[in-house]
Amino acid sequence: MAQQRKKLFIKTYGCQMNVYDSERMRDVLAPLGYEPSDRPDDADLVILNTCHIREKAAEKVYSELGRLRPHKEAKAGTGDPMTIAVAGCVAQAEGEEIMRRAPVVDLVVGPQTYHKLPELIAQTHRARGERLETEFEPVAKFDALAGDRAVDGYTAFLTVQEGCDKFCTFCVVPYTRGAEWSRPVDQIVAEARMLASKGVREITLLGQNVNAFHGAPPAGHEADGPWGLGRLLRHLSLIGGLDRIRYTTSHPNDMDDELIAAHGDLECLMPYLHLPVQSGSDKILHAMNRKHTFESYVRVIEKVRAARPDIAISGDFIVGFPGETEADFEATLQGVKAINYASAFSFKYSRRPGTPGASMPMQVDEVVASERLARLQAVLEEQQGEFNRSQIGKRLPVLFEKAGRLPGQLHGRSPYLQSVHCEGPSGLIGQIAEVTITDASRNSLTGLLDAKVDAA
Ligand code: SAH
Ligand code: SF4
Ligand code: F3S
Repeated sequence: MAQQRKKLFIKTYGCQMNVYDSERMRDVLAPLGYEPSDRPDDADLVILNTCHIREKAAEKVYSELGRLRPHKEAKAGTGDPMTIAVAGCVAQAEGEEIMRRAPVVDLVVGPQTYHKLPELIAQTHRARGERLETEFEPVAKFDALAGDRAVDGYTAFLTVQEGCDKFCTFCVVPYTRGAEWSRPVDQIVAEARMLASKGVREITLLGQNVNAFHGAPPAGHEADGPWGLGRLLRHLSLIGGLDRIRYTTSHPNDMDDELIAAHGDLECLMPYLHLPVQSGSDKILHAMNRKHTFESYVRVIEKVRAARPDIAISGDFIVGFPGETEADFEATLQGVKAINYASAFSFKYSRRPGTPGASMPMQVDEVVASERLARLQAVLEEQQGEFNRSQIGKRLPVLFEKAGRLPGQLHGRSPYLQSVHCEGPSGLIGQIAEVTITDASRNSLTGLLDAKVDAA
């Protein structure tokens, strides 16, 4: 008998790890007849894959649950009820509270238990029984999720490492994702090969601290002990069809020499490094428990630039961490000027319950923090614009990912992760082609396909 088709709507918040996990949830639910849908209102199963990193991110979940309630109520009478599941980091951090605050939720499932979704959903349907599943079992998660993956397009994420042991005093990740854990190399290689065989040209290796990767070595290399990220990249670079590899997010203290050398040696390793520093003040870095100074961060960047001179550096910043004075903030501005970023993300400090930062004295006034954020962003935006403008006149290999917004236009990415728009045939989607950059804005580049330049 053909299996009954059911509609699955997944909304993803937060980091790329969640994007990856959402795809895997889709894969694990497909055999049960769940087909992805882009509308929540008539879905049979709605999953909110949530983020807890800042207060705003967590609150979005409760607003979304409020919007879902009438749809669930409307479906309740039809004999075809809607099941609502909350997954991800809010689920992990506030499982009990979600159940209390939002009775509309049927199921709460933490990031390490997605492989149990089919079973949990069945249970919910049967008895509205076990509703909370947030234990830590990363090994079980990946063992059960391994296997085939539906692929959507020419780029893909691949989680290689999860969790974090660093305990920066502002951050919830060690609590929501648990202790650091790396997947075995063989498992990663099998997944990368499978992606390549389905036409994926670019993979981004993911981890909360991806460069802390230390996975079990592949069969035949047991004597090596755990492999680091540099070694893994070298190994993955041999897979045919994978033209581009990226990785994110890294911690400055885990940029070892082998990884830095890989940036000089591996053509497929894209010249882009996201390396958060958070602050330019050593006093604040110490209070954040970052375990590095600004100077040591600069030294890492210098080494990376020596290995790969054109590398685009990106970063993360937090302003208004407890105790941050005007002088500390000035140090951040000076630091940003010294590094010269190609892109960066900057945030106002958000007090996260349960983290040490939340109970520190000298919390910074909201207005002061907003004003500092605006000043920092002005400098970062200027640098990003400058970096983009520096590409004008250059020829860059662009991986075309999809059609652009305008007819006849394509959208792709430069090696430096910049968005590139140019006119071209749709047959180029999934291909890498040379583009001469003719114009740049803060957020993207435009250019001419080489063939056109030659014809002109
Ligand atoms: N693992 C990465 C980043 C994880 S979170 C690292 O170690 O750098 C992504 C970014 O969110 C962080 O780099 C930080 O800039 C920001 N962030 C995390 N917690 C925050 C908080 N409580 N308030 C404001 N920004 C925060
Ligand atoms: Fe959070 Fe720090 Fe771990 Fe990054 S290194 S995930 S900021 S605790
Ligand atoms: Fe958010 Fe969890 Fe990622 S808190 S940033 S979804 S690891």
